[in-house]
Amino acid sequence: MTPQAVPVYFYSSVSNLTRRFAEHIAERGRPVADLSDPAVRKSETTSPWVLLTPSYKAGNQANVTLPAAVLSFLKSPVNRRHLVGILGTGNRNFGEYYQAAARELARTSGRPVLFEFELSGTQEDVERCVEILEELDAALAARAR
Ligand SMILES: Cc1cc2nc3c(=O)[nH]c(=O)nc-3n(C[C@H](O)[C@H](O)[C@H](O)COP(=O)(O)O)c2cc1C
Repeated sequence: MTPQAVPVYFYSSVSNLTRRFAEHIAERGRPVADLSDPAVRKSETTSPWVLLTPSYKAGNQANVTLPAAVLSFLKSPVNRRHLVGILGTGNRNFGEYYQAAARELARTSGRPVLFEFELSGTQEDVERCVEILEELDAALAARAR
């Protein structure tokens, strides 16, 4: 039996780079949910989910790089508990802050960064990410048995 596909919740700003990647993931049959939709942001998960987030450094060292929509969704203890992994997108031009949001959240949540890519990702990035998510589906199905 094919294991259940873990949903990917993503945030993308007006530049829509993350959205493009999320759309490719959705085309491969995986449920994706858009955290810029207030109804999605206010919802609570009932099963494991994966976060796909860009990093946004707003100017100084103290600034949080996680988008506000992501922080809002993570306010729910239920959502925090069901989070099983993180996919990060960023831009290497940001140097030491490359993937700061995904990496910082991994540190604070104890959940792994499953995959990182730049901007909207390449075709190879999409393929690799699909594989990683399928491995995660299988691992979660095995854990549930
Ligand atoms: C103002 C601004 C700040 C950014 N800060 C970071 C950063 O700290 N680290 C990083 O890896 N990428 C950073 N980026 C790059 C974005 O994370 C990257 O372009 C991402 O693909 C944007 O996704 P989106 O178009 O879906 O919002 C920044 C981009 C902008 C415009």
